[in-house]
Amino acid sequence: MMMGKTCSKTTPSNLLVKRGERQKARNTPAGKETNAPLGVFVLEYDASNEDIEKTRNWKPIIKIAVSGAAGMISNHLLFKIASGEVFGPDQPVALRLLGSERSQVALEGVAMELEDCLFPLLREVDLGIDAKKVFEDADWALLIGAKPRGPGMERGDLLEMNGGLFAEQGKALNEVAKKTCKVMVVGNPCNTNALICMANAPNLDRRNFHALTRLDENRAKCQLALKAGVFYETVSNVTIWGNHSTTQVPDFVNAKIGGERCTDVIDDQTWLENDFTPAIQTRGGLLIKKWGRSSAASTAVSIADAMKALVTPTKEGDWFSSAVITDGNPYGIEEGLVFSMPCRSKGDGSYEIVEGLKINDWLRERIKKSEEELSNERSCVSHLMGVEGASCVILEDTLLPGEM
Ligand code: LMR
Repeated sequence: MMMGKTCSKTTPSNLLVKRGERQKARNTPAGKETNAPLGVFVLEYDASNEDIEKTRNWKPIIKIAVSGAAGMISNHLLFKIASGEVFGPDQPVALRLLGSERSQVALEGVAMELEDCLFPLLREVDLGIDAKKVFEDADWALLIGAKPRGPGMERGDLLEMNGGLFAEQGKALNEVAKKTCKVMVVGNPCNTNALICMANAPNLDRRNFHALTRLDENRAKCQLALKAGVFYETVSNVTIWGNHSTTQVPDFVNAKIGGERCTDVIDDQTWLENDFTPAIQTRGGLLIKKWGRSSAASTAVSIADAMKALVTPTKEGDWFSSAVITDGNPYGIEEGLVFSMPCRSKGDGSYEIVEGLKINDWLRERIKKSEEELSNERSCVSHLMGVEGASCVILEDTLLPGEM
Protein backbone atom coordinates (compact mmCIF):
# COMPACT_ATOMS: atom_id res chain seq x y z
CA MET A 1 0.00 0.00 0.00
CA MET A 2 1.41 3.38 -0.83
CA MET A 3 1.60 6.35 1.38
CA GLY A 4 3.22 9.74 1.10
CA LYS A 5 2.89 13.42 0.73
CA THR A 6 0.43 15.01 -1.65
CA CYS A 7 1.50 16.76 -4.78
CA SER A 8 0.09 19.77 -6.53
CA LYS A 9 1.36 22.34 -8.97
CA THR A 10 2.32 24.51 -5.97
CA THR A 11 4.22 21.72 -4.22
CA PRO A 12 7.80 22.76 -3.41
CA SER A 13 9.92 21.34 -6.17
CA ASN A 14 12.15 19.31 -3.90
CA LEU A 15 9.32 17.39 -2.27
CA LEU A 16 9.26 13.71 -2.95
CA VAL A 17 5.94 12.91 -4.60
CA LYS A 18 4.25 9.57 -4.17
CA ARG A 19 1.56 8.67 -6.61
CA GLY A 20 -0.88 6.76 -4.39
CA GLU A 21 -1.50 9.83 -2.33
CA ARG A 22 -2.85 11.77 -5.25
CA GLN A 23 -5.30 9.02 -5.92
CA LYS A 24 -6.40 8.94 -2.32
CA ALA A 25 -6.76 12.70 -2.22
CA ARG A 26 -8.65 13.03 -5.48
CA ASN A 27 -9.97 9.66 -6.42
CA THR A 28 -10.74 10.86 -9.92
CA PRO A 29 -9.96 9.20 -13.20
CA ALA A 30 -6.86 10.35 -14.96
CA GLY A 31 -7.17 13.72 -16.63
CA LYS A 32 -10.53 14.71 -15.12
CA GLU A 33 -9.08 17.54 -13.06
CA THR A 34 -7.81 20.43 -15.07
CA ASN A 35 -4.72 20.96 -12.92
CA ALA A 36 -3.80 17.33 -12.70
CA PRO A 37 -0.92 16.14 -14.81
CA LEU A 38 -2.69 13.54 -16.93
CA GLY A 39 -2.58 10.12 -15.43
CA VAL A 40 0.35 10.75 -13.14
CA PHE A 41 0.11 9.36 -9.63
CA VAL A 42 -3.46 8.14 -10.12
CA LEU A 43 -2.93 4.43 -10.35
CA GLU A 44 -3.17 2.87 -6.93
CA TYR A 45 -2.75 -0.71 -5.87
CA ASP A 46 -5.20 -1.27 -3.06
CA ALA A 47 -3.69 -3.92 -0.78
CA SER A 48 -7.15 -5.10 0.33
CA ASN A 49 -8.00 -6.04 -3.26
CA GLU A 50 -4.82 -7.95 -3.91
CA ASP A 51 -4.88 -11.40 -5.36
CA ILE A 52 -3.47 -13.09 -2.26
CA GLU A 53 -2.61 -16.29 -4.11
CA LYS A 54 -0.46 -14.36 -6.52
CA THR A 55 1.33 -12.17 -4.02
CA ARG A 56 1.64 -14.53 -1.03
CA ASN A 57 5.12 -15.69 -2.00
CA TRP A 58 6.39 -12.33 -3.08
CA LYS A 59 9.53 -11.00 -1.43
CA PRO A 60 9.47 -7.75 0.54
CA ILE A 61 9.47 -4.70 -1.73
CA ILE A 62 12.86 -3.23 -2.70
CA LYS A 63 13.54 0.43 -3.44
CA ILE A 64 15.52 1.31 -6.51
CA ALA A 65 16.68 4.89 -6.87
CA VAL A 66 17.64 6.07 -10.35
CA SER A 67 19.34 9.38 -11.17
CA GLY A 68 19.01 10.87 -14.64
CA ALA A 69 15.60 9.24 -14.60
CA ALA A 70 14.15 11.37 -17.39
CA GLY A 71 17.04 10.57 -19.72
CA MET A 72 17.29 8.15 -22.62
CA ILE A 73 19.05 5.32 -20.79
CA SER A 74 16.51 5.34 -17.97
CA ASN A 75 13.72 5.42 -20.49
CA HIS A 76 14.72 1.92 -21.49
CA LEU A 77 15.92 0.66 -18.12
CA LEU A 78 13.01 1.59 -15.87
CA PHE A 79 10.58 -0.51 -17.87
CA LYS A 80 12.84 -3.55 -17.70
CA ILE A 81 13.10 -3.24 -13.93
CA ALA A 82 9.39 -2.60 -13.44
CA SER A 83 8.47 -5.61 -15.62
CA GLY A 84 10.30 -8.02 -13.31
CA GLU A 85 12.99 -8.82 -15.88
CA VAL A 86 15.84 -7.90 -13.55
CA PHE A 87 14.77 -9.12 -10.12
CA GLY A 88 12.33 -11.85 -11.06
CA PRO A 89 8.54 -12.40 -11.00
CA ASP A 90 8.28 -12.48 -7.17
CA GLN A 91 10.10 -9.25 -6.43
CA PRO A 92 7.91 -6.16 -6.08
CA VAL A 93 9.75 -2.89 -6.64
CA ALA A 94 9.44 0.79 -5.78
CA LEU A 95 11.07 3.12 -8.28
CA ARG A 96 12.42 6.38 -6.90
CA LEU A 97 13.24 8.69 -9.74
CA LEU A 98 15.73 11.52 -9.34
CA GLY A 99 15.58 14.34 -11.85
CA SER A 100 16.66 17.96 -11.97
CA GLU A 101 14.70 21.22 -11.92
CA ARG A 102 14.88 21.15 -15.70
CA SER A 103 13.62 17.58 -16.05
CA GLN A 104 10.96 17.39 -13.37
CA VAL A 105 8.00 17.76 -15.72
CA ALA A 106 9.52 15.16 -18.04
CA LEU A 107 9.81 12.91 -15.01
CA GLU A 108 6.04 13.06 -14.62
CA GLY A 109 5.79 11.87 -18.21
CA VAL A 110 8.03 8.92 -17.37
CA ALA A 111 5.80 8.08 -14.39
CA MET A 112 2.73 8.24 -16.65
CA GLU A 113 4.23 5.72 -19.04
CA LEU A 114 5.24 3.44 -16.19
CA GLU A 115 1.68 3.50 -14.91
CA ASP A 116 0.23 2.82 -18.33
CA CYS A 117 2.23 -0.40 -18.55
CA LEU A 118 0.19 -1.94 -15.69
CA PHE A 119 3.21 -3.77 -14.30
CA PRO A 120 1.92 -5.76 -11.31
CA LEU A 121 5.30 -5.75 -9.58
CA LEU A 122 5.60 -1.96 -9.69
CA ARG A 123 4.19 -0.87 -6.34
CA GLU A 124 5.34 2.74 -6.14
CA VAL A 125 6.81 5.45 -8.30
CA ASP A 126 8.25 8.38 -6.41
CA LEU A 127 9.65 11.48 -8.07
CA GLY A 128 11.99 14.11 -6.71
CA ILE A 129 14.92 16.38 -7.38
CA ASP A 130 16.53 16.18 -3.95
CA ALA A 131 18.91 13.21 -3.67
CA LYS A 132 18.55 13.17 0.11
CA LYS A 133 14.86 12.40 -0.24
CA VAL A 134 14.98 10.16 -3.28
CA PHE A 135 17.76 7.93 -1.91
CA GLU A 136 16.02 7.33 1.42
CA ASP A 137 16.15 3.63 2.34
CA ALA A 138 17.30 2.73 -1.17
CA ASP A 139 18.36 -0.87 -1.75
CA TRP A 140 19.89 0.03 -5.10
CA ALA A 141 21.10 3.36 -6.49
CA LEU A 142 21.62 3.52 -10.24
CA LEU A 143 23.56 6.71 -10.88
CA ILE A 144 22.99 7.39 -14.55
CA GLY A 145 22.69 11.17 -14.71
CA ALA A 146 25.85 13.11 -15.58
CA LYS A 147 26.68 16.10 -17.73
CA PRO A 148 28.31 15.39 -21.09
CA ARG A 149 31.56 17.11 -21.98
CA GLY A 150 30.77 20.41 -23.68
CA PRO A 151 32.67 22.27 -26.41
CA GLY A 152 36.04 23.58 -25.22
CA MET A 153 35.95 21.63 -21.97
CA GLU A 154 39.10 19.86 -20.86
CA ARG A 155 38.77 16.33 -19.52
CA GLY A 156 39.83 17.75 -16.15
CA ASP A 157 36.81 20.12 -16.28
CA LEU A 158 34.50 17.17 -16.88
CA LEU A 159 36.02 15.25 -13.97
CA GLU A 160 35.56 18.29 -11.77
CA MET A 161 31.99 19.05 -12.84
CA ASN A 162 30.63 15.53 -12.66
CA GLY A 163 32.83 14.69 -9.69
CA GLY A 164 31.08 17.40 -7.68
CA LEU A 165 27.71 15.86 -8.50
CA PHE A 166 28.86 12.37 -7.46
CA ALA A 167 30.37 13.72 -4.23
CA GLU A 168 26.96 15.19 -3.36
CA GLN A 169 25.16 11.99 -4.26
CA GLY A 170 27.66 9.99 -2.20
CA LYS A 171 26.92 12.19 0.81
CA ALA A 172 23.19 11.74 0.30
CA LEU A 173 23.55 7.94 0.05
CA ASN A 174 25.69 7.98 3.16
CA GLU A 175 23.01 9.78 5.10
CA VAL A 176 19.80 8.16 3.96
CA ALA A 177 20.29 4.96 1.92
CA LYS A 178 20.31 1.49 3.45
CA LYS A 179 23.82 0.52 4.59
CA THR A 180 23.56 -2.45 2.25
CA CYS A 181 22.63 -0.29 -0.76
CA LYS A 182 24.29 -1.40 -4.01
CA VAL A 183 25.48 1.51 -6.12
CA MET A 184 25.93 1.20 -9.89
CA VAL A 185 27.59 4.24 -11.49
CA VAL A 186 26.94 4.80 -15.18
CA GLY A 187 27.44 8.56 -15.63
CA ASN A 188 30.87 9.22 -17.15
CA PRO A 189 33.70 9.15 -16.26
CA CYS A 190 32.06 6.31 -14.39
CA ASN A 191 35.06 4.64 -12.70
CA THR A 192 36.26 7.84 -11.09
CA ASN A 193 32.73 9.04 -10.35
CA ALA A 194 32.16 5.77 -8.50
CA LEU A 195 35.35 6.32 -6.53
CA ILE A 196 34.29 9.84 -5.55
CA CYS A 197 30.83 8.63 -4.60
CA MET A 198 32.32 5.84 -2.47
CA ALA A 199 34.72 8.20 -0.70
CA ASN A 200 31.78 10.38 0.29
CA ALA A 201 29.72 7.45 1.55
CA PRO A 202 31.87 5.85 4.27
CA ASN A 203 28.82 4.23 5.90
CA LEU A 204 28.43 1.98 2.85
CA ASP A 205 30.73 -0.97 2.18
CA ARG A 206 33.24 -0.04 -0.57
CA ARG A 207 32.51 -3.38 -2.18
CA ASN A 208 28.94 -2.28 -2.85
CA PHE A 209 30.07 0.21 -5.52
CA HIS A 210 30.29 -0.67 -9.20
CA ALA A 211 31.03 1.30 -12.36
CA LEU A 212 29.45 -0.08 -15.50
CA THR A 213 31.72 -1.98 -17.88
CA ARG A 214 29.15 -4.64 -18.74
CA LEU A 215 28.33 -2.63 -21.86
CA ASP A 216 31.93 -3.06 -23.03
CA GLU A 217 31.79 -6.78 -22.18
CA ASN A 218 28.62 -7.18 -24.23
CA ARG A 219 30.19 -5.30 -27.12
CA ALA A 220 33.23 -7.56 -26.98
CA LYS A 221 31.09 -10.72 -26.89
CA CYS A 222 29.16 -9.54 -29.91
CA GLN A 223 32.26 -8.86 -32.01
CA LEU A 224 33.92 -12.15 -31.06
CA ALA A 225 30.72 -14.06 -31.88
CA LEU A 226 30.40 -12.35 -35.25
CA LYS A 227 34.02 -13.08 -36.15
CA ALA A 228 33.73 -16.72 -35.08
CA GLY A 229 30.36 -17.13 -36.81
CA VAL A 230 28.65 -18.35 -33.65
CA PHE A 231 25.78 -17.12 -31.53
CA TYR A 232 26.57 -14.65 -28.72
CA GLU A 233 25.70 -17.07 -25.94
CA THR A 234 28.60 -19.28 -26.94
CA VAL A 235 31.08 -16.57 -25.94
CA SER A 236 32.03 -16.61 -22.26
CA ASN A 237 34.75 -15.56 -19.83
CA VAL A 238 35.15 -12.11 -21.33
CA THR A 239 36.86 -9.61 -19.06
CA ILE A 240 37.11 -5.90 -19.59
CA TRP A 241 40.09 -4.66 -17.61
CA GLY A 242 40.42 -1.11 -16.36
CA ASN A 243 38.69 2.12 -17.18
CA HIS A 244 35.50 2.67 -19.20
CA SER A 245 37.57 4.75 -21.61
CA THR A 246 39.66 4.15 -24.68
CA THR A 247 42.38 2.57 -22.49
CA GLN A 248 40.09 -0.29 -21.47
CA VAL A 249 41.42 -3.76 -22.28
CA PRO A 250 38.96 -6.28 -23.72
CA ASP A 251 40.63 -9.58 -22.84
CA PHE A 252 40.60 -12.07 -25.72
CA VAL A 253 43.45 -14.04 -24.09
CA ASN A 254 41.23 -15.57 -21.40
CA ALA A 255 37.94 -15.44 -23.32
CA LYS A 256 36.29 -18.64 -24.51
CA ILE A 257 34.10 -19.52 -27.44
CA GLY A 258 32.07 -22.70 -27.12
CA GLY A 259 34.27 -23.63 -24.16
CA GLU A 260 37.45 -23.42 -26.29
CA ARG A 261 40.10 -20.73 -25.99
CA CYS A 262 39.02 -17.77 -28.06
CA THR A 263 42.50 -17.55 -29.60
CA ASP A 264 42.16 -21.15 -30.84
CA VAL A 265 38.75 -20.50 -32.38
CA ILE A 266 39.75 -17.13 -33.86
CA ASP A 267 43.23 -17.93 -35.08
CA ASP A 268 43.95 -14.37 -36.13
CA GLN A 269 46.10 -12.52 -33.61
CA THR A 270 46.40 -9.48 -35.88
CA TRP A 271 42.63 -9.08 -35.96
CA LEU A 272 42.32 -9.61 -32.20
CA GLU A 273 45.00 -7.03 -31.39
CA ASN A 274 44.56 -4.45 -34.13
CA ASP A 275 40.89 -4.60 -35.08
CA PHE A 276 38.89 -6.14 -32.26
CA THR A 277 40.63 -4.31 -29.41
CA PRO A 278 40.34 -0.72 -30.74
CA ALA A 279 36.83 -1.46 -32.03
CA ILE A 280 35.64 -2.18 -28.48
CA GLN A 281 37.60 0.70 -26.97
CA THR A 282 36.03 3.21 -29.35
CA ARG A 283 32.62 1.67 -30.08
CA GLY A 284 30.75 4.23 -27.98
CA GLY A 285 32.27 7.05 -30.04
CA LEU A 286 31.46 5.41 -33.35
CA LEU A 287 27.87 4.96 -32.22
CA ILE A 288 27.63 8.64 -31.30
CA LYS A 289 28.90 9.56 -34.77
CA LYS A 290 26.28 7.43 -36.49
CA TRP A 291 23.37 7.88 -34.14
CA GLY A 292 24.02 11.47 -33.13
CA ARG A 293 23.79 10.66 -29.44
CA SER A 294 25.22 8.35 -26.85
CA SER A 295 24.22 4.70 -26.58
CA ALA A 296 20.99 4.36 -24.62
CA ALA A 297 19.15 1.08 -25.26
CA SER A 298 22.28 -1.07 -25.19
CA THR A 299 23.50 0.74 -22.09
CA ALA A 300 20.17 0.06 -20.37
CA VAL A 301 20.33 -3.62 -21.34
CA SER A 302 23.85 -3.83 -19.96
CA ILE A 303 22.84 -2.18 -16.67
CA ALA A 304 20.08 -4.77 -16.34
CA ASP A 305 22.65 -7.49 -17.15
CA ALA A 306 25.05 -6.07 -14.56
CA MET A 307 22.34 -6.08 -11.87
CA LYS A 308 21.17 -9.58 -12.81
CA ALA A 309 24.78 -10.76 -12.59
CA LEU A 310 24.81 -9.75 -8.92
CA VAL A 311 21.46 -11.27 -7.98
CA THR A 312 21.87 -14.55 -9.91
CA PRO A 313 24.59 -17.13 -9.21
CA THR A 314 27.29 -16.94 -11.90
CA LYS A 315 27.51 -20.04 -14.13
CA GLU A 316 30.18 -22.47 -13.04
CA GLY A 317 33.52 -21.54 -14.61
CA ASP A 318 32.33 -18.23 -16.04
CA TRP A 319 32.61 -14.65 -14.82
CA PHE A 320 31.41 -11.15 -15.65
CA SER A 321 33.09 -7.74 -15.78
CA SER A 322 32.43 -4.97 -13.34
CA ALA A 323 34.56 -2.04 -12.25
CA VAL A 324 35.02 -2.52 -8.50
CA ILE A 325 37.37 -1.35 -5.77
CA THR A 326 40.89 -2.75 -6.22
CA ASP A 327 41.58 -3.13 -2.48
CA GLY A 328 43.15 -6.57 -1.95
CA ASN A 329 42.86 -7.55 -5.64
CA PRO A 330 44.91 -10.57 -6.77
CA TYR A 331 46.37 -8.89 -9.90
CA GLY A 332 48.68 -6.36 -8.23
CA ILE A 333 46.63 -3.41 -9.45
CA GLU A 334 47.10 -0.30 -7.34
CA GLU A 335 44.69 -0.21 -4.41
CA GLY A 336 42.03 2.47 -4.03
CA LEU A 337 40.92 2.55 -7.67
CA VAL A 338 37.63 1.49 -9.26
CA PHE A 339 38.92 -0.87 -11.93
CA SER A 340 37.11 -3.34 -14.13
CA MET A 341 38.02 -6.94 -13.33
CA PRO A 342 36.55 -10.45 -13.67
CA CYS A 343 33.93 -11.07 -10.96
CA ARG A 344 31.66 -13.88 -9.81
CA SER A 345 28.59 -13.75 -7.60
CA LYS A 346 26.69 -16.26 -5.49
CA GLY A 347 23.58 -14.29 -6.40
CA ASP A 348 23.25 -12.54 -3.05
CA GLY A 349 24.22 -9.11 -4.41
CA SER A 350 27.87 -9.45 -3.49
CA TYR A 351 30.79 -10.56 -5.69
CA GLU A 352 34.31 -11.91 -5.53
CA ILE A 353 37.14 -11.13 -7.92
CA VAL A 354 38.07 -14.20 -9.97
CA GLU A 355 41.70 -15.16 -9.46
CA GLY A 356 44.18 -16.90 -11.70
CA LEU A 357 43.55 -15.38 -15.13
CA LYS A 358 46.60 -15.54 -17.38
CA ILE A 359 48.07 -12.07 -17.81
CA ASN A 360 50.53 -12.17 -20.71
CA ASP A 361 52.85 -9.30 -21.64
CA TRP A 362 50.37 -7.88 -24.16
CA LEU A 363 47.64 -7.66 -21.55
CA ARG A 364 49.97 -6.50 -18.75
CA GLU A 365 51.26 -3.53 -20.73
CA ARG A 366 47.75 -2.35 -21.60
CA ILE A 367 46.28 -2.98 -18.17
CA LYS A 368 49.11 -0.86 -16.74
CA LYS A 369 48.17 2.01 -19.04
CA SER A 370 44.55 1.94 -17.90
CA GLU A 371 45.72 1.73 -14.27
CA GLU A 372 47.90 4.83 -14.76
CA GLU A 373 45.01 6.66 -16.33
CA LEU A 374 42.74 5.89 -13.37
CA SER A 375 45.46 6.80 -10.92
CA ASN A 376 45.82 10.17 -12.65
CA GLU A 377 42.07 10.70 -12.66
CA ARG A 378 42.01 10.01 -8.92
CA SER A 379 44.74 12.64 -8.36
CA CYS A 380 42.63 15.18 -10.25
CA VAL A 381 39.61 14.66 -8.02
CA SER A 382 41.32 13.90 -4.72
CA HIS A 383 40.01 17.16 -3.23
CA LEU A 384 36.49 15.75 -3.78
CA MET A 385 37.53 12.70 -1.77
CA GLY A 386 38.80 14.64 1.23
CA VAL A 387 42.50 14.57 0.18
CA GLU A 388 44.29 17.85 -0.57
CA GLY A 389 47.47 18.55 -2.48
CA ALA A 390 47.56 15.84 -5.18
CA SER A 391 48.69 16.97 -8.63
CA CYS A 392 46.51 16.47 -11.69
CA VAL A 393 48.09 15.33 -14.93
CA ILE A 394 45.57 14.20 -17.53
CA LEU A 395 47.14 12.12 -20.27
CA GLU A 396 46.22 13.48 -23.68
CA ASP A 397 44.86 10.24 -25.07
CA THR A 398 42.49 9.54 -22.23
CA LEU A 399 39.10 9.65 -23.79
CA LEU A 400 35.67 8.39 -22.91
CA PRO A 401 34.40 5.94 -25.49
CA GLY A 402 32.22 8.78 -26.77
CA GLU A 403 35.03 11.27 -27.25
CA MET A 404 36.71 10.78 -30.60
C1 LMR B 1 29.39 4.44 -24.37
O1 LMR B 1 30.30 3.67 -24.10
O2 LMR B 1 28.57 4.21 -25.26
C2 LMR B 1 29.29 5.75 -23.64
O3 LMR B 1 29.97 5.69 -22.42
C3 LMR B 1 29.83 6.82 -24.53
C4 LMR B 1 29.70 8.19 -23.95
O4 LMR B 1 30.73 8.86 -23.85
O5 LMR B 1 28.58 8.60 -23.62
